[in-house]
Amino acid sequence: MPAIPEFVLRKLFVPGSLAPCGSGFKFEMNNTFAPVTLLGLGISADEKSADVQSITLSLPGHEAVPAAAIHEQQPFSLPVNVIVSVQVLASEPKNKLTIQALTREAGLLQFSIPVKSGAKTGLSRNPVKEFSQQLTNYFRAQRARRDPQHPRLHFTPPANWMNDPNGLIFWQGNVHLFYQTNPLEPAWGNIHWGHAVSKDMLHWRHLPLALSPDPNGADAGGCFSGCAVIHEGIPTLLYTGVYPEVQCLAMSPSPNLVRWQKHPQPVIPAPPPGLSVEGFRDPCVWKEGREWLMTLGSGIKDVGGAVLLYRSQDLRSWSYAGILFQGDALSHHPLWTGTMWECPSFFPLEDKWVLILSVCGPEGGLYTIYYTGQFTTDRFIPDNGPHLLDTGAGGCYYAPQTFLDEKGRRIIFGWLREARSAADQARAGWSGAMSLPRVLTLGNDGRVHLAPLEALSTLRQEHERLNLSNLKSRPIRDVPLELLVTFPRPPETWSGITLTSDASSGERIKIGFDPDRSLVVTDCTQAGGLLSETPISPDPDQTLTFHIFIDGSTLEVYIQDRLPVSARFYLTGKLQVHCAGPVLVDIWKLII
Ligand code: FRU
Repeated sequence: MPAIPEFVLRKLFVPGSLAPCGSGFKFEMNNTFAPVTLLGLGISADEKSADVQSITLSLPGHEAVPAAAIHEQQPFSLPVNVIVSVQVLASEPKNKLTIQALTREAGLLQFSIPVKSGAKTGLSRNPVKEFSQQLTNYFRAQRARRDPQHPRLHFTPPANWMNDPNGLIFWQGNVHLFYQTNPLEPAWGNIHWGHAVSKDMLHWRHLPLALSPDPNGADAGGCFSGCAVIHEGIPTLLYTGVYPEVQCLAMSPSPNLVRWQKHPQPVIPAPPPGLSVEGFRDPCVWKEGREWLMTLGSGIKDVGGAVLLYRSQDLRSWSYAGILFQGDALSHHPLWTGTMWECPSFFPLEDKWVLILSVCGPEGGLYTIYYTGQFTTDRFIPDNGPHLLDTGAGGCYYAPQTFLDEKGRRIIFGWLREARSAADQARAGWSGAMSLPRVLTLGNDGRVHLAPLEALSTLRQEHERLNLSNLKSRPIRDVPLELLVTFPRPPETWSGITLTSDASSGERIKIGFDPDRSLVVTDCTQAGGLLSETPISPDPDQTLTFHIFIDGSTLEVYIQDRLPVSARFYLTGKLQVHCAGPVLVDIWKLII
């Protein structure tokens, strides 16, 4: 069922019904749409979630029902055109009343009623402005759905801007994906945490924004990247509030993680004294025994990127444990590791520890690297690296985050950055996509291998096989596609595939192996994108494969199902696939 726009949902609220009641407040709702089965109800007054125990609902002639008693097994039926009165034992909202209703028929419905005008945060409190923003977002989302360049399989918000994945966590049967978003524009700024939930990491359900900047809080300038952990049974987010960069904490009192209460003070209010840092952000937190550990992305002025380590018993009080690992901005071998590191991700993988870093230079984020090594007494000692985690040009794959899923697999999601201009992003009304979920393993070669989630194959439909002896070219339609390109023997001349568009003759993408230079080439330069070259040393006895996912304007190529190349391209029209050289190409439509 398509999302119901907020301006439509607001019609449920009975105008003028909000009034003080005892030591709380009450209001009325009239369901004029269709019978609805309520599975849960949440109320926030001025972004502050009321305790579910303090909410009661009553239908005329019936006894009041506590909201805490409503759940899947004990739903509450809301008939049509019957006024339901809601009482809340909490301070009356001064600016905004937010109603979150979990329904069996339409999922989570959230809408806000402006109580009094005033513009305090990025999201307008002026009802007219707010209405017009909701309308703009609604039409942007509709346009994005029709946009052939908008991915269907890769996660994106309905509209506007998205960057880093945040707070990835498996919780009570679901994977929660939070992400950096600007809910007002398809451009970076006004950073909130968006939220979506999935059972299989392929089909996502959008949930309301999880974190918004608090005009009077430490995150007034934005809620930057961070992570999620479970502390004493309570889902907890640690993230960076700006400006200055400080570390903040929020907890969720609701099992579906739709409501978050912020800890009033930053939990780490400043970088360690005496350290001249560039950047102090993006907490990655994990537990060792009874203690919590946190890494923070930073850089030491005139030295290079740095990861700072902290320890805590309770997630609130943190002590600095030193520099976990440091780079050298003067060294360019085997690659430059920048002046500052964003979004560190540090975790054990088999018998090693892996440190993933998003490398930043004065010009901004560059690419993502990793090291493997050992973690001993607060220091990381690398034995392998730095390597690129994804060889897509222009740092297409950036700021990834990992987590353990219910099967104990280490899963990673990253942000697929746009390769088109800001003006084109503004015109499209959306920007940024999440990579497909990838599974991390440690290879015998000591490298981290990244493979697409196996469950993607459950989406396959309508298989076709191309090779040189039957068909050279086959039109493929505007749905996500999976291609498996197999080289039965190591090719002696350039071999691979070319994708062309029926909309324009000059546009093409080439993906192939160049034996002279021993490179896998992913060339999107004739399709509004970039050229990626990945050195490989193919084993003459082994079949070479490229596992390719094409979805809207996203392209992911997995060489040997372990070395990913992410790219963006902006072809329009229907694609045709052509074989070049001795390859077999299996093609599936992916139905999501
Ligand atoms: C990485 C990053 C993070 C920061 C966030 C802000 O892309 O710059 O370091 O927390 O994005 O949106």
